[in-house]
Amino acid sequence: MYEFAVNVDSILVILLLIVWGAAGLLAGGLSTRRRTRLLLALIGVGTVVTVARGIGTGLLWSNGWVFVADRVLVALPLLAVPMVAMFALAVPALRRIAGRRQATNGTAKTAETAKTETAGAPPTPFPVSVRVSVRTTAVAALLGAFMEYLSRPLPPYGADMAIYTGILLVAAAASRGRNPRPRRAGTRRAVAVTALVATAITGAGVYEMRTSLLPDRMSMMGHGDVDYGGGPGGSHHGSRASGAPAVKAVNAADLTGPRTGTPDRAFTLTARETSIRLGSGAVLDAWTYNGQAPGPALTVREGDLVQVTLVNRLPREGVTIHWHGLDVPNAEDGVAGVTQDAVQPGESHVYRFRADQVGTFWYHTHQRPLVGVRRGLFGSLVVLPPEGTTGEDITVMAHNWERPDGLVAAFGTSDTLDRRPVRPGTPVRLRVVNTDRNAWSDVESRNLVLLGARFRVAAIDGVDLDGPSELDGVRLSVAEGGRYDLTFVMPDRPVLLADLANPRAGLLLSPGSDGPVTAPSIPSDAPVFDPATYGTPAPVPFTRFDRDFTVIIDDRIGFHDGTLHFLPTVNGRSFPHTPVHMVRQGEVVRMTFVNRSHQVHPMHLHGHHALVLSRNGRPTTGSPWWIDTLAVQPGETYEIGFRADNPGVWMDHCHDLGHAADGMVTHLAYEGISTPYEIGHGTPNQPE
Ligand code: C2O
Ligand code: CU
Repeated sequence: MYEFAVNVDSILVILLLIVWGAAGLLAGGLSTRRRTRLLLALIGVGTVVTVARGIGTGLLWSNGWVFVADRVLVALPLLAVPMVAMFALAVPALRRIAGRRQATNGTAKTAETAKTETAGAPPTPFPVSVRVSVRTTAVAALLGAFMEYLSRPLPPYGADMAIYTGILLVAAAASRGRNPRPRRAGTRRAVAVTALVATAITGAGVYEMRTSLLPDRMSMMGHGDVDYGGGPGGSHHGSRASGAPAVKAVNAADLTGPRTGTPDRAFTLTARETSIRLGSGAVLDAWTYNGQAPGPALTVREGDLVQVTLVNRLPREGVTIHWHGLDVPNAEDGVAGVTQDAVQPGESHVYRFRADQVGTFWYHTHQRPLVGVRRGLFGSLVVLPPEGTTGEDITVMAHNWERPDGLVAAFGTSDTLDRRPVRPGTPVRLRVVNTDRNAWSDVESRNLVLLGARFRVAAIDGVDLDGPSELDGVRLSVAEGGRYDLTFVMPDRPVLLADLANPRAGLLLSPGSDGPVTAPSIPSDAPVFDPATYGTPAPVPFTRFDRDFTVIIDDRIGFHDGTLHFLPTVNGRSFPHTPVHMVRQGEVVRMTFVNRSHQVHPMHLHGHHALVLSRNGRPTTGSPWWIDTLAVQPGETYEIGFRADNPGVWMDHCHDLGHAADGMVTHLAYEGISTPYEIGHGTPNQPE
């Protein structure tokens, strides 16, 4: 519904501009019969489109006030005022003119006499009421579209209203001039106006383009505006805050894991160029950790001190390792330009952290991840409880590979059916990691199905759910970067895990190892599993919030780092102009995501797990649902809450890696903590 409404709405904005713009141009000319009729027709069409937009606004409003606040409070009233004047004054005047000409025409029986009449009595300009009201309407439509473009959906709008009203008054005054202009002067004026508008648009475009450029070097602390979320203000450079206690300055590079002690588990991951073979036989040039993609499955036990040595043997590309979902100390987080410098070819880097969350996680490079992760620099990381695991414990990574014949969804490297025997009666834990977006859809995350067994969603994003009930015949919509653990007891028939984007691929668990098996067939319209209502509820651990942040997601045509894109935006801006969310250690934070855009955005906060509090204004009713990556679909609003208990400078970005590369990046910063690393073309670091 929302997608439909928002798509229609985008078309209506453009139509509105075209129709009212044409009417405005026409109103400046002479009132010949043809022009008068055309103008009346345009006013009719413009009114219909405007009313349609009003209805569309009503539909979007049902998703929440924040979806329409800017147009209800600014764009539509600005349009309504001149339109009322138009109906009160201009339309009757135009009718009179049309009627008069009609009457004259009625007596003029032949084309010959009509021509004489036209030639003999030169038509006059339209009356001032027509010129002023129609042209002001056109300018109001333009301002409305501009406001839309800015995606500035947060009131108050006092300043916007004042500026736009001023522009409208100037436009109204400028449209008053009454003297009929000779044709040539008219043409000259039209050329001048067109040139002026073209110059203004080009100027604005060049300005946007230039301000979108990433500086040669910049600190991640220095971008955008600092948002204090209604909490105490201060400086994150460690200087004294107004009225606030001084916070001791801390260097994020010092926030490491245990630097001493013998590791319980030590791994070496070497990034290199490797060709890999998919199940279908396709051979791809990949970037891998240890020559395999996905990289080695790292399995450790809770409490283990883990040490990973990253060695870079790629010919040119820098690399890092980010432990997605594991809330490690800041300096171990593996983000180029934020928590370390990208490891250059020939160099190495050591990560050390204690694995104190049990669950399913994954690791991937955070240097140009759009390229690196897509090409294979990722793997799974599973933290088992101290007592280990029983039955079959299988991790699968859903990934899209760029085959010569196009993008294909796969599990690991198998883009065809991958068969695996499991004895009936065996308890199975299937850990599904989603590394990438839905290859088919912009509005939904990856859609998976598990067929042939009743199963439970035992954990999401590495956190167990309380009281998960048995499911059957549902689609699992897993956020890009998110994980679902599915548990079931192996039945005496085959069980299939499949991605709806590629029905040919799948993991087939079969009760016997020999003989042909038929895979269960995939239903196309299974309902989507809803974590918000699944499992047994528990009291929310947060009672009040020290900070409240609102993240409005939208999209528009715009520049990022000098190139024109269809751009996802955060509060109307693209990185480096996006907000920094500032907190203090120990605070409880609420963050509200509102997706006004046309696409799904999986929002990923590093270093913290957050509890989903509500969706679309309704509190969650199921098991506590903790996430590190939350897919916010178009039209949706989510509130999440978390405790700021892991000091550092943390990425908070969209895990659609293409969106992140286009500037859908913000940060969570702790007061008093700064990072010594820098990003930009003059540094080795490109975190997105
Ligand atoms: Cu999975 Cu910022 O990353
Ligand atoms: Cu996104």
